[in-house]
Amino acid sequence: MLFRNFLENRTSTREYKETVIERDKLDMLMDFAFKIEKSYGNEGIRFKLYQNGDEIYNELKGKAGYSGVMIKSPHYIGLQTNDENDLTFLKASYAMETLLTKVYQMDLGSCWINVMDTPYDSKKILFDENNKHVNYIVAIGYPKNSQKITDFTNSDGLQNEDIEYLNTIRPFKEKKYFVDKSTSSRLSVSDIVFYNEFGNEISQEELDNRGLNELFYYIRYAPSDKNEQPWRFILKNNSVELGVIDPQDKNNLTDAGIMMYYFEEMAKSIGYKGNWNFKQDNIQDYKGINYTILGEYNL
Ligand SMILES: Cc1cc2nc3c(=O)[nH]c(=O)nc-3n(C[C@H](O)[C@H](O)[C@H](O)COP(=O)(O)O)c2cc1C
Repeated sequence: MLFRNFLENRTSTREYKETVIERDKLDMLMDFAFKIEKSYGNEGIRFKLYQNGDEIYNELKGKAGYSGVMIKSPHYIGLQTNDENDLTFLKASYAMETLLTKVYQMDLGSCWINVMDTPYDSKKILFDENNKHVNYIVAIGYPKNSQKITDFTNSDGLQNEDIEYLNTIRPFKEKKYFVDKSTSSRLSVSDIVFYNEFGNEISQEELDNRGLNELFYYIRYAPSDKNEQPWRFILKNNSVELGVIDPQDKNNLTDAGIMMYYFEEMAKSIGYKGNWNFKQDNIQDYKGINYTILGEYNL
């Protein structure tokens, strides 16, 4: 499947069938997870598969997820890290989203669940003898409702959509399709991409001329905590910088790591071969908004 189609159609699944995932599928998934872990060497990023879905759900009900709304699924994957440094948040979420692409390819659904503020006593069930940090787990399983593209339309896209993250259960008009699925809206390209410096509007023409229109259009479908979409891009002559609003909020670093993954994959699909170079300690202020550049991608 084309990566842009995948991005456009991916969505968080919050309702699962009770059916457990077949053993061979889980093995295949965790083999892949192991390969990702290994690629991080001794940086300490680990995926832990929890097969005791009921137990985890009952323990975390009322304590994990948005306002304690825990998502019920037959299995969960925990994202474990050795520390809670900024770079670790970026790398760990990049790694998790790599794994979740595989989950999607296996026709399974997934949804990140935030356990950052879950009391340690309740979270104990997630730890193993290594006693690492766990700030997110991901629900995985067979979605209760399948998603389908029902018709074509000439709608103008997502502009002027509101960005409330929990109003996800409604059909909406997409650029080319009428999509009958649960999804959440996204900011427009001009809201998140700037030219040369933060706040400087980018023209459609500039994006067209540089062949970057599709890239920025599709990466907006990356998931983010509370659908806050804190990522911002600055397009320069030979590079793109990725920044986030309010870098003190570690969830925004997680969202940035996810975005780095999708950006690289989408860029690959249109012929770029680069990787993000991480940047740190670059906090800037624009019109009272605090943001920081976390990475640079050379075009
Ligand atoms: C880091 C992260 C944490 C999230 N935590 C939760 C959560 O605790 N509960 C939940 O229902 N959804 C959670 N989500 C899912 C987001 O709400 C979802 O990605 C966003 O609303 C966009 O919707 P979509 O993924 O369906 O496109 C999380 C997503 C991310 C990336």
